[in-house]
Amino acid sequence: MNKYVISSSILSADFTRLGQQIAEAESAGVDWLHVDVMDGHFVPNITMGPFVVEWCRKATKLPLDVHLMIEKPERYIEAFAKAGASGLTVHVETCADMHNTLKQIKSLGCWAGAVLNPATPVGEIEPFLAEADLVLVMSVNPGYSGQSFMPESIAKVAHIRQKLDELGSSAWLEVDGGISTQTLPKMKEAGATAFVAATAIFKNPQGIEAGIQSLRSLL
Ligand code: DX5
Ligand code: ZN
Repeated sequence: MNKYVISSSILSADFTRLGQQIAEAESAGVDWLHVDVMDGHFVPNITMGPFVVEWCRKATKLPLDVHLMIEKPERYIEAFAKAGASGLTVHVETCADMHNTLKQIKSLGCWAGAVLNPATPVGEIEPFLAEADLVLVMSVNPGYSGQSFMPESIAKVAHIRQKLDELGSSAWLEVDGGISTQTLPKMKEAGATAFVAATAIFKNPQGIEAGIQSLRSLL
């Protein structure tokens, strides 16, 4: 595995030709495909479910990095794993029993991710750092792509980097929201190793490949 990964979020893709857009990202050398699942309760927007993950699984060999922005995510872990998710990331704000849910995710053969919102104190995720395969720090309020990066998240990433290092954890430290050629270097400097981008890839005026390459050139 690479030391750093780029995870392209299909939230900004053109869904009339999703398969082609995924193929383009894959041939441009993106590492993971990020799937943003939203339920209209935990976040205001409604997006996609296991059905879309199943079709993504058929469209690509890329690992599917599935971000669950839903209430009671434990109800859907099995469905997303069966649909072909490679990793499932759940929010500390909405998960009643994080330890058990992370365990359940791993038992289904997926990597287990834990994520926190910009307004959530970093202490809320600390009890789960040792068992997470991936820790995600949101740098926007989840719900939509194309929002402005919140610079407060940089210190959070640095803090979690330090805690992961103290634990000797090799978990991915992922960042999501407003990641661009301007903000990626700051997050990398703070210790992030996985970078989610929707707008900077799928809405790049020069095209998907150029979007991926410009981010990659900074890693
Ligand atoms: C936000 C999602 C992100 C989003 C990122 O709720 O979790 O993955 O797609 O979009 P950009 O890269 O445009 O900020
Ligand atoms: Zn996301």
